[in-house]
Amino acid sequence: MSSSTAITNIAALVTNDPSLRDGDPLGLVRDAAVVIDGDRVVWTGETRKAPATDNRVDAGGRAVLPGFVDSHSHLVFAGDRTEEFNARMSGRPYSAGGIRTTVAATRAATDAELEATLVRHLREALRQGTTTLETKSGYGLTVDDEARALRIAAHHTDEVTYLGAHIVAPEYADDPAGYVALVTGEMLDACAPHAGWIDVFCERGAFDGDQARAVLTAGRERGLRPRVHANQLTHGPGVQLAVELDAASADHCTHLTDADVDALAHGDTVATLLPGAEFSTRAPWPDARRLLDAGATVALSTDCNPGSSFTSSVPFCVALAVRDMGMTPDEAVWSATAGGAAALRRDDVGRLVPGAYADLVLLDAPSHVHLAYRPGVPLVTGVWRRGVRVV
Ligand code: NIG
Ligand code: FE
Repeated sequence: MSSSTAITNIAALVTNDPSLRDGDPLGLVRDAAVVIDGDRVVWTGETRKAPATDNRVDAGGRAVLPGFVDSHSHLVFAGDRTEEFNARMSGRPYSAGGIRTTVAATRAATDAELEATLVRHLREALRQGTTTLETKSGYGLTVDDEARALRIAAHHTDEVTYLGAHIVAPEYADDPAGYVALVTGEMLDACAPHAGWIDVFCERGAFDGDQARAVLTAGRERGLRPRVHANQLTHGPGVQLAVELDAASADHCTHLTDADVDALAHGDTVATLLPGAEFSTRAPWPDARRLLDAGATVALSTDCNPGSSFTSSVPFCVALAVRDMGMTPDEAVWSATAGGAAALRRDDVGRLVPGAYADLVLLDAPSHVHLAYRPGVPLVTGVWRRGVRVV
């Protein structure tokens, strides 16, 4: 039988329930409490009105928010790209070619090594407040290596994405059409049972618009839902394609035309911004303000991977988004919680409302604003996942 717990004496509770305070998207409640029963939230409101429960936890006048929803990571990998990072910091540009280094290391790794690395980074993310995390294949690029990456990922998260179309596998360098045929044929057959999503890196040097369309539509026919690596390094067709195919998310969105912004503002595709990648590649920041002002839904995620963004920290991304991408602290916190949930088309995470999963973060700070106000400080002091305190 489940038991109920009230977390009380919360100075500022972010619920992401706009009905609580005149449409305020953050649904902020002061002097608040949250009641958890089993794995769900059953009540939120002011502490003085909280119902009787079996247990009580005193938040000590600190802030509570929904667990972060990191809707974009690449955590099934092996090897290290410190040298490539060092070279970039001495002025070399980022290129998708570095992915090949990780592909070679990943193919050479055992299942146990891949799983251990994944688990280490999942724990690292959890300690920083991430309670829902999407992760992808994309460093195997053979039928067997892609399928095993997804099998390993599916043991540890519900949000698994098939990214056989990350780059053209080295063996197919002279036959990209042959590689697309593999990704949409035999590889898809092997991978579809282990994934819920299909993704493609639509970029110069990876896959063009026609190839990306072929990949996503083949995946959709097998029941995989589309998401797209779009407009990261250059302007290109990725965002338009994502919106046209009603992809849940167009990720990166660093180089956007007015027509791209307009498409995102009018479609149901979330613009997922990944500032860790711009930080680690010294690229221009995506313009979150432009997207928000146009009416697009924005998510913030880490893109955690050994090449372009080796951070698992959503709080770091929140701070970058506020400092450099024109977001207010409220907007950035919403995007890292409810926004990430929208990018995964979920309403059971990213919000603290009755019926949602009891995934919560307790900050050692009186307000969620401190995530940006105190960058680089480990403020996450408590994490509940599915009603269980794990940090
Ligand atoms: O999202 N853009 C493509 N894929 C990754 C980078 C992968 C890598 O460099 O290993 C990204 O940034
Ligand atoms: Fe990525």
